[in-house]
Amino acid sequence: MARDLGELNREDFARYKDDVKKEGKPFFPRAIFHDTVMSLVVVGIIVALAAIWYYDAGDTPEGEGLEPGILGPWYTEPADPATTNFVPRPDWYFYFLFYLLRIFKWPETVFIATVGIPTICLILLIGLPFYDRRRERRPLHRPVAMVAAVLTILSMAVLTWKGATAKEALGSELVLLVPSWAEEQGFVGNEEAEKGAKLFAESGCLNCHTYLGQGAGNLGAPDLSEVGATNDAAYFVQYLTNPAAYGNTVMGSYSYLGAENLAALGEFLAASKGTSGG
Ligand code: HEC
Repeated sequence: MARDLGELNREDFARYKDDVKKEGKPFFPRAIFHDTVMSLVVVGIIVALAAIWYYDAGDTPEGEGLEPGILGPWYTEPADPATTNFVPRPDWYFYFLFYLLRIFKWPETVFIATVGIPTICLILLIGLPFYDRRRERRPLHRPVAMVAAVLTILSMAVLTWKGATAKEALGSELVLLVPSWAEEQGFVGNEEAEKGAKLFAESGCLNCHTYLGQGAGNLGAPDLSEVGATNDAAYFVQYLTNPAAYGNTVMGSYSYLGAENLAALGEFLAASKGTSGG
């Protein structure tokens, strides 16, 4: 085992050349044949999956009482470009990135998470042949590489798991703020307004608006902390039912929430008179 590496190098190379001469296989037809067989197997699997999907799928959109097939339904409802409460989720193999982004908070560290860390990892990977030039390939003799590999796999597994089970949407975190909103705006005990506040947190309003220091302030949406000082609940119900009628073409209609929910939202907005108004 204790041979010097240079000698091993030359010996190996000679043996390799020898092997090629003695046992080398021609590209045609041998390699071509292998590739053809493998390609046919892959195409066969895809055709089989398509057939299973076709014969197993329910024939109406999801959720109409028919079980979708094991490989999914024939077709689903068309996407709704106007939706504001859709929570985008990546495919499962991106869950680890998805969760990484949740760990880092906008805006300070997001750049590190999205550009910095992946770039460093890729550079390390690309550079691997240049900085790890030892011939040793037995796992137990490469502790640093093995630990790094195990840690990478472990952290990706954990992040994927966390991403898959992550509580949905900022909404669920914002809902936790409802009691403090009620406190600050003075509508503690007003069940209707509290219900509205929850809806407000869950319905994506804060993707555009700001409220008591939370939210995005996007697309020119005003702060709503004191919106109740100027208008009443009935007005807000009207407004949310048809924002376009008030010249607001950015906000979609929320009539889909139903009259009861809209009334609660209206009550909440009307109760939001800002810290000064009480
Ligand atoms: C896509 C971004 C967006 C979303 C989501 C959104 N809004 Fe708006 N909203 C706006 C914009 C922009 C305005 C200002 C329009 C204008 O100035 O004419 C506005 C105006 C309003 C107003 C009128 C404010 C005033 O001073 O009269 C209210 C009330 C309101 N939004 C409530 C809500 C509620 C409640 C939700 C969630 C159910 C919501 N908005 C979701 C963009 C949005």
